[in-house]
Amino acid sequence: MTAEPPAEPPPEPRRTESGFPFAPVYGPEDLAGRDQAERLGRPGEYPFTRGIHPTMYTGRPWTMRQYAGFGTAAESNARYRQLIAGGSTGLSVAFDLPTQMGYDSDAPLAAGEVGRVGVAVDSVEDMAELFEGIPLGEVSTSMTINAPAAVLLLLYQLVGEGQGVPPARLTGTVQNDVLKEYIARGTYIFPPQPSLRLVADLFRYCRAEIPRWNTISISGYHMAEAGATPAQEIAFTLADGIAYVRAALAAGLAVDDFAPRLSFFFVARSTLLEEVAKFRAARRIWARVMREEFGARDPRSQRLRFHTQTAGVQLTAQQPEVNLVRVAVQALAAVLGGTQSLHTNSFDEALALPTEKAARLALRTQQVLAHETDVTATVDPFAGSYAVEALTDEVEAAALALMAEVEELGGAVAAIEAGHQKAAIERSAYRIQRETEAGSRTVVGVNRFRLGPAELAAEEPYRPLRVDPAIEARQVGRLARLRAARDGAAVDRALGALRRAAEGRANVLYPMREALAARATVGEVCDALREVWGRHVPAERF
Ligand code: 3HC
Repeated sequence: MTAEPPAEPPPEPRRTESGFPFAPVYGPEDLAGRDQAERLGRPGEYPFTRGIHPTMYTGRPWTMRQYAGFGTAAESNARYRQLIAGGSTGLSVAFDLPTQMGYDSDAPLAAGEVGRVGVAVDSVEDMAELFEGIPLGEVSTSMTINAPAAVLLLLYQLVGEGQGVPPARLTGTVQNDVLKEYIARGTYIFPPQPSLRLVADLFRYCRAEIPRWNTISISGYHMAEAGATPAQEIAFTLADGIAYVRAALAAGLAVDDFAPRLSFFFVARSTLLEEVAKFRAARRIWARVMREEFGARDPRSQRLRFHTQTAGVQLTAQQPEVNLVRVAVQALAAVLGGTQSLHTNSFDEALALPTEKAARLALRTQQVLAHETDVTATVDPFAGSYAVEALTDEVEAAALALMAEVEELGGAVAAIEAGHQKAAIERSAYRIQRETEAGSRTVVGVNRFRLGPAELAAEEPYRPLRVDPAIEARQVGRLARLRAARDGAAVDRALGALRRAAEGRANVLYPMREALAARATVGEVCDALREVWGRHVPAERF
């Protein structure tokens, strides 16, 4: 009788991206003891787990909002018109780094970056050209701009007025989320306290002047792209949200006066089940925070409205067409998770700025989901699923624990200054990289299912989009002509008034608007604020 071979150890359970194990099979026992009716609610009702509207996509599909922008305003304007003609239902402006950092195209620090990762906007004239022929009373426009968000919002308002559109009719969003820039991405200008003051000034200004404008897009996307797990992504994002609400309350604003216009921005990874759970958990946490911690009574203050972008960091340069499949799965995750607005990445973006064809395919991916599938036929189809409800509870518990850690450190700003979020994200990123290199994390085409030399040789050569290097010279010339033609004394007076407001307590957006209307540039306005508030220099330990 031969000895029985030792019993195989049970396989390690697959773990979620947030770190807790999947149950190979979920059942009623996984939801036992939890009042699912109370935890779920109905769509459009507190705590909004199932979505923020009673009808969700059966009433209105999500906004197809493709992030785009490069070169000069004229080139980006042409891409926006193509996107609108192709069926985009919202605009999303990518600005170049000088604009995002509050420098003019002719600033020494701008050299080599003008028009590269987005469109160069220096003045009200550039903004007018960016939206030439696009009726601002009929589109909603997101602008990915943070430290100088107030400047670009006011330029947008001035262009709207130039088109005869009253500010009260303008709709859109400025990202305006500087806290995550200290944690990831890095396009901050001023230190945290003046930055929070500027955010609160913008909230107050929009309440009075541009009431339909979404004043902030509190972002987890960039932290996720830097390596944050789903639980970290929503925990650190909601903790930033709490910091912004506290800053606005400290500035004397009433919570239901500004909270309905807060919005959020998350990633959608390929791990669809956990991502759907993540979005549902985020809505439930935020609803409770707004009602119980801040006493928000208006249901619109308790609804977490968000935009989603598919995961740029999961795009591969190898076999780039495989990215079409990844983006489709990620977009489905966002839709099943109840997103209000969606950007689908182009399959070639791991190689270069998207070609026109790649950008079109990205939009078509959303259109197939919206018009050829049945995911818009019913609300929150995963509700009641043993697996997704259990995962929603688990992601919620993990996120709440991480939020408690931030709170113990004194809140998001104090935790940022201690390097807490950045260090946690770096540890997650390191783990992901080690798993990829070890092969325990499969990346199709990269560490498995690769092409051999003969197959690679047979591949069609890829022709990336080229941004014309002459753009910088053209943009610098536009600036010189603007400065020569404007009333310099009027600009100086307006910038002086802006500095005085920044030194005091007055809302800086009013003198800022006057300066921009007098053709002060983005860089000049930001320089005036730098003179008063200084620049943020990260502490060594970051
Ligand atoms: N029933 C009733 N009303 C409905 C409805 C339904 N089923 N569906 C929609 N609506 C209503 C809404 O309530 C809203 O009404 P309102 O104007 O009175 O508020 C209107 O229809 C439009 O709906 P949404 O506001 O939900 O949709 P939008 O697309 O206009 O706004 C948002 C979505 C998330 C609130 C907004 O903040 C937004 O558009 N965010 C986009 C942010 C973005 O694009 N960021 C890009 C970042 S790229 C980046 O960071 C750089 C790179 O590095 C990644």
